[in-house]
Amino acid sequence: MKRVAVLISGGGSNMVRLLESMAGDHPARAVLVGANDPNAGGLAKAAALGVDTFAVDHRPFERDRAAFEAELIRQLDAVQPDILALAGFMRILTPDFVRHYEGRMLNIHPSLLPKYPGLNTHARAIEAGDAEAGATVHEVTADLDAGPILGQARVPVLPGDTPGDLAARVLVQEHRLYPAVLRRFAAGDRGRLDL
Ligand code: GAR
Repeated sequence: MKRVAVLISGGGSNMVRLLESMAGDHPARAVLVGANDPNAGGLAKAAALGVDTFAVDHRPFERDRAAFEAELIRQLDAVQPDILALAGFMRILTPDFVRHYEGRMLNIHPSLLPKYPGLNTHARAIEAGDAEAGATVHEVTADLDAGPILGQARVPVLPGDTPGDLAARVLVQEHRLYPAVLRRFAAGDRGRLDL
């Protein structure tokens, strides 16, 4: 059974879907949920699902990313995760952190990568006049939002869409995509899934 840790920064709707999916004949189980914000709404949701939680507030560390990440690693490695799933974790990670978890760290990003790495993905897709938008699950490598793609889900961009409209439509697909990719990844399948 693979042991999965999840990192979040906010409400954690993707994290909840991941936790709920890891049951029955699933090859993995959730062992820990961490956040960089002690007030992240997802922490209580994880606890309610019976999963241990922790927070490492990034703010007291100011610009010392290495010290912040050392504390994250200490908390994560205490549970010996086989897989680390980033789910709306909004801190940039240093190459040292990425190297530590390389080959076992996943992320979900709200665009059809390689389009729109970084922030404001939905506004950028609308601004560009794209007919389609979506989400990508990828392996995390030292290049931001550029690791090997494990799966994508697509939605139409509709006339008059606001970034919020599009984000909501994409999020529904994120909730299907991420559990499906995690299940395959935990079973050793790194092939690409298109929903
Ligand atoms: C999701 O849309 C996820 O794709 C995005 O943050 C949201 C988190 O929602 N991630 C990023 O933008 C990563 N750069 P959630 O907390 O409800 O899962």
